[in-house]
Amino acid sequence: MDIRTQLKFYQERVDVHLEKCINRCSIDPILQESMLYSLFNGGKRVRPALVYMVNNMLGGELEQADSAAAAIECVHSYSLVHDDLPAMDDDDLRRGKPTCHIAFDEATAILAGDALQCLAFELLSNNQELPAETRINLIQLLGHASGHHGMVVGQSFDLRNVGKPLTLEELETMHQHKTGALLRCSVLMGAALNTSASEQQLKQLEQYVSAIGLAFQVQDDILDIEGDSATIGKPQGSDLEQNKPTYPALLGLEGAKLKLKQLHEQALQALEPFGDKAEELKALADFIVQRDH
Ligand code: IPE
Ligand code: IPE
Ligand code: MG
Ligand code: MG
Ligand code: MG
Repeated sequence: MDIRTQLKFYQERVDVHLEKCINRCSIDPILQESMLYSLFNGGKRVRPALVYMVNNMLGGELEQADSAAAAIECVHSYSLVHDDLPAMDDDDLRRGKPTCHIAFDEATAILAGDALQCLAFELLSNNQELPAETRINLIQLLGHASGHHGMVVGQSFDLRNVGKPLTLEELETMHQHKTGALLRCSVLMGAALNTSASEQQLKQLEQYVSAIGLAFQVQDDILDIEGDSATIGKPQGSDLEQNKPTYPALLGLEGAKLKLKQLHEQALQALEPFGDKAEELKALADFIVQRDH
């Protein structure tokens, strides 16, 4: 199966699960609509795919990964809704459609993000299929990766350093938090659903995701320069316009591309001990460095 077909399969699976959860809530149709609008707008669902793929590689059943896959996508979608707000990146296009605060209004976008974040933890804690200990473990992983140790501190560091020169090390730290933390969490949640992962396997998976996490953001920075708005589904040139700290800004476009190639190789190397079982994860690494949106 090619990676796009595989991704589509996981996309559809997580979408069915997400839809079921949101349709059961809310006395306010506009809040509900803004949450659905932010979730179902053509996201690639890379993070849910990672949860499913790791779980699958370690011998888990698809059903046991549904709530973790849905939860990580809720946090990711919330982070995008807030990232686009006027107080943050002030962007008006996301996934090819007006951003949540443009389609609704700013207050609604803030609340949609808040509600999506809470929903993520509710999904994990409610999953009766999983033992309580696994649920707690998943909640801890997601909390750690989302908040002031993870994505949020990465976002904060990003905003704090607009227009300032960063060292390569600082830039990498920023990316490992801003984007890397949720990707890493997807892999760790996929592994936490199973008891079979050895210490060594976890170490290899961490190396894999650390490389693709960084690669994901390097490619995002490159697309801001080389992509076109219609394909990337967000305004091209937004980083440049706002003088954002990015890889191309520090290494030049060619330097950023070389970095991407090195990270891709590191990711594939980390998967070697898994042999054929890692085919899906390998294909995902290829997809991340080659993606055009
Ligand atoms: C975009 O993430 C923001 C970053 C973290 C770089 P994605 O590229 O995964 O966005 P969607 O979910 O597919 O729209
Ligand atoms: C967003 O990074 C990362 C998170 C939302 C956590 P960017 O600001 O680079 O993402 P885009 O380019 O708006 O998708
Ligand atoms: Mg941003
Ligand atoms: Mg942004
Ligand atoms: Mg970006």
